Amino acid sequence: MEKIVIDGGRPLRGTIHCDGAKNAALPILIATLLAPGEHRLTNVPELADTSSTLSLLGRMGCPSLVHDDALRVDATRIAFCEAPYDVVRKMRASVLVLGPLLARCGEAKVSLPGGCAIGTRPIDQHLKGLEALGCRFELSGGYIHGIAPALKGAEIHLDMPTVTGTENILMAAVLASGTTRIHNAAREPEVTDLVRFLRTLGAKIEGDGTSTLTIEGVSRLTPASRPYSVVGDRIEAGTYLCAAAITGGDVEVTGCDPALLESTVAKLREAGCTLTVGEQSVRLQRDTPLQAFNARTEPYPGLATDMQAQLMSLACLARGTSRIEETIFENRFMHAAELTRMGADVQHTGRIATVVGVPTLQGAAVMASDLRASAALVLAGLASEGLTEVLRIYHLDRGYHDLVGKLRGVGARIARTSDAITDRSELSAALDAAA
Ligand code: EPU
Repeated sequence: MEKIVIDGGRPLRGTIHCDGAKNAALPILIATLLAPGEHRLTNVPELADTSSTLSLLGRMGCPSLVHDDALRVDATRIAFCEAPYDVVRKMRASVLVLGPLLARCGEAKVSLPGGCAIGTRPIDQHLKGLEALGCRFELSGGYIHGIAPALKGAEIHLDMPTVTGTENILMAAVLASGTTRIHNAAREPEVTDLVRFLRTLGAKIEGDGTSTLTIEGVSRLTPASRPYSVVGDRIEAGTYLCAAAITGGDVEVTGCDPALLESTVAKLREAGCTLTVGEQSVRLQRDTPLQAFNARTEPYPGLATDMQAQLMSLACLARGTSRIEETIFENRFMHAAELTRMGADVQHTGRIATVVGVPTLQGAAVMASDLRASAALVLAGLASEGLTEVLRIYHLDRGYHDLVGKLRGVGARIARTSDAITDRSELSAALDAAA
């Protein structure tokens, strides 16, 4: 297995370009199942989760290839309506095939995703919404088996604005007869991007960006004649802005709509950074000390839970005491213990973490527990004294394309090496070779 090694303490300077958003690309790829024919997509990020999704579509009989800069998915025929355990356990987003398969094939068999490092993450709201549309479910052998002889529009009230729950129900409702209204729907930009994609197939949806989605079912969807470009990744952008902030650098992040980053930009300003917003870019400069801040994660347009870990790394080096509240997932502070191993002062009880800023962090070997926690540890490593080794980086490969190359491009001393290399001089040699 590989690890990331970082020799910290260098301010980052330059430009980093963001890829398409993972959490928009995955549902859009899965939504191709709704419309028979060939789909063309651009700005799809090259990630482990993208490969898992394409292999899942392939197993269902929908092959894909890259041609003329576009990813082509052929959803002409669906041969197999199942998402098996070996795929779902690696990538929870596989559960998104339920809605499209039930809508197009009238049946679906999907392994029930278990809990994960950040929480129990049930899918009761997905099933409640799909049942309201006329689906029936049975659980056996760890699989949910759904059948839907005919889908009929309904009024659906979600208990919380779940992102993938909204997407699953939306994808079924576009082919249901009559009108569906999803109340308390998620307003995340990734849901809006899925709505935009579905519209290019002929779906009739209103209310995107608000908490009520109204869907007028159609009898058939057809692939668009032009390629669809996935929205830029606001979480990737936010992560690189934090990298500039934590190192006291000057970095322009391009490829993402700044309007989608407002809550992160506001928090970074509170932390003492100077941010300049362009049309499709945000520049962050910092030459004064980081200041403590309070942060509370919320559904969009509030501060994204997917930015919480990265902001905690900043708080570790800020002057004063920061309070960070995680309201979306019940167990999303796994990075706190690892940051403490680097010299941070973080205490957490339940959903609240208190971070007392320290003047410096020291490099250490740390273990990544989930995708955003891994990003937080890389950020801490960029600002630490000495060498940091981040283990279990397969989490990072799920959500950040070429993180090491992009950070190196703005001056970081960072490399991927085998995790069997532990000797300090060999690690330094790996960093020199990568420079
Ligand atoms: N929830 C339920 N029942 C449900 C659905 C959700 O109780 O049926 C709860 C969850 O347990 C959680 C809360 O509702 O406490 C919100 O979860 P949500 O369903 O919105 O999360 P998700 O759809 O599973 C997506 C992203 C996550 C991101 C969250 C929150 C994708 C593929 N995943 O997950 O992304 O953190 O929304 O914005 O879109 C990541 O990229 O690192 C990541 C974890």
